[in-house]
Amino acid sequence: MSRRILVTAALPYANGHIHLGHLVEYAQTDIWVRFQKLRGHDCRFFCADDTHGTSIMIRARQEGRREEDVIADMREAHLRDFAGFDIEFDNYGSTHSESNRELCAEFWAALRRADMIVARDVERLFDPEVGTFLADRFVRGTCPKCGTEGQYGDGCEKCLSNYAPTDLLNPRSTLSGATPELRTSTQLFVRIEDLHEFLGTWTQTSGALQPEIANYLQGHFLGEPLRDWDVSRPARYFGFEIPDSPGNYWYVWFDAPIGYVASTRDWCDRTGESLDGWWKNPDCEIHHFIGKDITYFHTLFWPAMLKTAGYQLPTKVHIHGFLTVDGEKMSKSRGTFIRGSTYLQHLDPAYLRYYFASKLGPRVDDLDLNLEDFRNKINSDLVGKVVNIASRCARLLAGRSLSAAYPEDGGLFREGAAASERIAAAYENCDYNQAMREIMLLADRANQYIDAQQPWTLRKDPARADDVQNICSVALNLFRQIAVYLAPVLPRLARQTGELLSAPIEHWDAAQQPLSGTPVNEFQHLLKRIEIEKVNAMLADSQDDLAKKEAPTAAAGAAVVGAEAAGGSGQDSGEWLEKEPLVADLCTIDDFTKVDLRVARVVEANHVQGADKLLQLTLSLGGDVRRNVFAGIKAAYAPEQLVGRLVVVVANLAPRKMKFGVSEGMVCAAGSGGRDVFLLAPDSGAQPGQRVH
Ligand code: MSP
Ligand code: ZN
Repeated sequence: MSRRILVTAALPYANGHIHLGHLVEYAQTDIWVRFQKLRGHDCRFFCADDTHGTSIMIRARQEGRREEDVIADMREAHLRDFAGFDIEFDNYGSTHSESNRELCAEFWAALRRADMIVARDVERLFDPEVGTFLADRFVRGTCPKCGTEGQYGDGCEKCLSNYAPTDLLNPRSTLSGATPELRTSTQLFVRIEDLHEFLGTWTQTSGALQPEIANYLQGHFLGEPLRDWDVSRPARYFGFEIPDSPGNYWYVWFDAPIGYVASTRDWCDRTGESLDGWWKNPDCEIHHFIGKDITYFHTLFWPAMLKTAGYQLPTKVHIHGFLTVDGEKMSKSRGTFIRGSTYLQHLDPAYLRYYFASKLGPRVDDLDLNLEDFRNKINSDLVGKVVNIASRCARLLAGRSLSAAYPEDGGLFREGAAASERIAAAYENCDYNQAMREIMLLADRANQYIDAQQPWTLRKDPARADDVQNICSVALNLFRQIAVYLAPVLPRLARQTGELLSAPIEHWDAAQQPLSGTPVNEFQHLLKRIEIEKVNAMLADSQDDLAKKEAPTAAAGAAVVGAEAAGGSGQDSGEWLEKEPLVADLCTIDDFTKVDLRVARVVEANHVQGADKLLQLTLSLGGDVRRNVFAGIKAAYAPEQLVGRLVVVVANLAPRKMKFGVSEGMVCAAGSGGRDVFLLAPDSGAQPGQRVH
């Protein structure tokens, strides 16, 4: 039965370019949507630019332009990047649209009617030079507890105490350097506690959330009264003025998710569809794809707003983790903060779509783009296995046709057809990793078949022409079956396969029936191997982006994003990042012993030129066994603190080539990174080289 499915991805901020981290989400969502469409479902994908808030205002001010012009340019850039990665929306709207303004007013009126809006006076810091109230992250000063200078308004990085920005000593606006003034502002709050019971039930029992998310919400928020949500911002603010509260604007996070509905509405207006048929129809599934940093907004506020305004609740909120590059947070100085557009100058989008697919599962885990693994995986899976089937056989049959009847293949095609529902279930569950593994098994079998049949040898014997045609017909049908299964991930490959075999791939069930008798066209080169030079050039270009000096704006923008995301709610959604509420999947004792943990002594520790997070350690593992290890602990340890102490090291970790040299192991530590790192140490008496069991 055909399902009606509405899908959204988070609306990217209009104050920055699309980077590879974003693409984890947009690729994941696009794959899911393409899968559903291929299955014949009535599935639509809506997104938009998230345009409001302080960050855009400041960027516009710095560039001496109107906000509208800044967001128009960014929209164009975003659309270009998305198209470049084959991410296809049914509508791409903007939160700065009339449809969104009207819908915001509708949601607001519903909250008023439910008596959930309360007004309260709040003392806030105000920048008299820029003429704006300051978000916590825009104020810096001296910590009132420990006296450390240069601390943000929401807490001290040195002594980790939390305080209000008004408690800072010697506060300064990071926008202008001016001394902020204390001013009273009357703000409007949503009393979300009114829906506590509803949210408790919905988050825990609806099945809309991944189990780790449901637990996280229960453990961090739902166990106590929900704090009122501060949804208004005083002028001047780039956003929509609240109709019944002149001079106040809706906070960006109020109007942003409503942008999902507004984008749908724009599409309905264009196509003659009914908005209610999508958003108020119990038979329509609603799926949101988001990153873990914005969990709170999508799993508590947004359902509360939908519920109050009489809209359907999300069927599922699919939450993914964060992208790291070579095991570390993306970094401009290392060149691993890679924009989508920079990637596209050097590499094919199919590589990244496939790589992400091969790494994505249904859980909230972070995901690493290890550039060496990336190259190996693409070269071995996509080029070596998949494309290889076609490139070995299509040429032998170009200009001719597939056999008139599908030849005997020892059950290979049937086996592939039987995998259909297994692969489909994996896609449906967002377990793309599993789907890719199943598909690669099929590719392995097809290659084994070709290796055994050796059509290129038979070709030399004119009497065997029919055999060659039959073998290649089998191989190309197996290839096509794989291309169907990969179509959500690799739409271009699917299209080219359709052209090659004169039969477009339009439905998932195309994998059920082999083709026979259709013309085989000229083989076009499908996908090339990734050369390391291309990857290096991309990294070099990414470093250049920084040198091109987008710096002041970008830095201000980034600070605001943090402020917008973390502030306002009072219940910091970013907290998710620091906590790991669940224990990982079970492992066996065999899994554990695969990891060779050893006691080691630090015999040398040095700063690394050009690395802002790393220290270089020389470890002794007993006798004269030495290891060179780069550890991301610079923010937490000085080299001289380390020399002589014992640590625990993963001794059989495959050596990793880094920009600064080869790392031959990993030092074990707790904590989330940065200053929050705590090295493990054995009790005294342990000797270097001893194994840790
Ligand atoms: N504008 C808000 C979303 C509003 S939705 C009503 C926002 N924008 S964003 O541009 O910062 O991020 C857009 C999406 O990309 C978010 O879901 C975010 O989690 C995701 N990612 C941004 N950086 C990421 C990584 N480094 N890794 C994985 N996903 C990341 O948040
Ligand atoms: Zn302090």
